[in-house]
Amino acid sequence: FGRSIHYEEVVETTQKVAHRLANEGAKEGTIVVAEEQSNGRGRMDRKWVSPKYTGIWLSIILRPNLPPHKAPQLTLIAAVSVVQAIEEVTGLSPEIKWPNDVLLNGKKITGILTEMQADADRIASIIMGIGINVNQSKEDYPPELQDKATSLAIEKGQKISRAELIQALLLKLENLYKIYIEKGFHPIKLLWESYAVSIGKYITARTLTGAIAGKAIGITDEGVLLLEDGEGKTHHIYSADIEIG
Ligand code: BTN
Repeated sequence: FGRSIHYEEVVETTQKVAHRLANEGAKEGTIVVAEEQSNGRGRMDRKWVSPKYTGIWLSIILRPNLPPHKAPQLTLIAAVSVVQAIEEVTGLSPEIKWPNDVLLNGKKITGILTEMQADADRIASIIMGIGINVNQSKEDYPPELQDKATSLAIEKGQKISRAELIQALLLKLENLYKIYIEKGFHPIKLLWESYAVSIGKYITARTLTGAIAGKAIGITDEGVLLLEDGEGKTHHIYSADIEIG
């Protein structure tokens, strides 16, 4: 991954640039990385604040020869690769909150946005957007975000090299992606579960249609969250925001 890197100073969002390149036929592993995003996007139509020189804002083009329902698994691969890269470069030990938030001390450090173009039975391209808060200081976060979001520099107490972190991230991601293509999702699932905070805990899952509370009992081989409610009924959660406790 990263043999073709499109480096930009400022873009609206690296997702949009990557979509354009994908439509022009860009190869798997093509990366778009920017110093700043003026209109960074998060999941569920949220904004993703992406100030200049402080974080890693990148999108990667993937072209797996897979049916569309496998796309969530790729998001979980990205989360595992972020955890491994952060561990290697900083020595910190992040955790994953399903499906794809990476946390340190319960605060969000990374978000992942997976967007797909596909027909009924094949993925044409996946644009995987990864945003890592690296060198922001505490004052960079408004008070209402200070107990929700953090940066690697805040948690580690020193600045972190973004170049080193990007390099580690691309190596981990490529390695896990290869394992996934060759051996399937099972080895990734085991790694993902070893980093997951929500499994075994009581959670509330807020979906577009309402909220369900219960115990998170695991994920399926497809990457779908299993939640057991108070009556012992198991729910399959495909997309939601999770609150622990
Ligand atoms: C989330 O947790 O809501 C996902 C956030 C994803 C942010 C990244 S930063 C690079 C890429 N470009 C964007 O506009 N969003 C993703």
